Amino acid sequence: MAMKLKEALASLLSENELQLLVRGYDVVGDIAIIIVPQGLEKREQVIAAAILANNPNIKVVAKRAAHYYGEFRTLPITIIGGEDRRETEVREFGIRLRLDVEKVYFSIRSGNERRRIASLVQPGENVLVLFSGIAPYPLMISRYSLAKKIVGIEKNPVAHDFALLNLKLNRKLKNIELLQGDVGDLLPRFSSEFDRVIMVLPKSAEDFLEAALQVVKPGGYLHFYDMQNNDSFGESVAKVRAACESVKRSLLAVDVTACGHCSPRTYRICVDGLIS
Ligand SMILES: C[S@@+](CC[C@H](N)C(=O)[O-])C[C@H]1O[C@@H](n2cnc3c(N)ncnc32)[C@H](O)[C@@H]1O
Repeated sequence: MAMKLKEALASLLSENELQLLVRGYDVVGDIAIIIVPQGLEKREQVIAAAILANNPNIKVVAKRAAHYYGEFRTLPITIIGGEDRRETEVREFGIRLRLDVEKVYFSIRSGNERRRIASLVQPGENVLVLFSGIAPYPLMISRYSLAKKIVGIEKNPVAHDFALLNLKLNRKLKNIELLQGDVGDLLPRFSSEFDRVIMVLPKSAEDFLEAALQVVKPGGYLHFYDMQNNDSFGESVAKVRAACESVKRSLLAVDVTACGHCSPRTYRICVDGLIS
């Protein structure tokens, strides 16, 4: 897609401007989200027009207006071409997900990881998804496993409302319960009743590790996401091990999966732990 964009713009931008163009962009439903580098701001309308002309399925072109920020990890955007809207629908492994790309967090790049987690779930499991957003994990697990029950907890009220809408859009998936609130407040409601707990907050989930471990059944699994340098994955395992020790549990077996790139040396990783 990056090459195509460069080709489409070859006669419209100068050689220097073409060099600045960032390789690739995300497509969320029918919204393209691009990064406009410094020096190309004046050309953003031309870039947006080229994307729209070359991709009939894209109806909106937006640019990142800042980084992901705040507790809800949202991404400010500015629309630079096409329709003036922020709401769209994504299809992920056959699941329908409606969202507002500016008001909720959703990573289009994590679909394979969600599918991987769903493939680990055994028949009859009770699963808890912390930081569940618009509910892509609960829906994927419901669709691709024989879990008994899946509970999701999300604090952003807008994301929770989209999650409820997404449950309706995927009406065949019925074993999901979604709660809106702070994980720290809601976790104490549960006992050690979950076969599997998934913590989808790669920047600060460690603050909730001990509380999350309290609700994992003996012999259950914890999936802990983290951002880590490529030579330091062991540090993320150490965080899980230390939390286990402080709540008098232990890490019986562990696996680490790299499931995304954050920067050339930094990965989004998942520590899959079997908990005593
Ligand atoms: C990285 S996003 C993951 C969203 C979703 N699971 C996904 O894969 O698209 C983390 C989510 O955690 C939510 N969040 C942050 N702090 C929270 C807290 N203390 N309690 C509950 N949810 C929280 C954010 O609003 C955000 O939707």
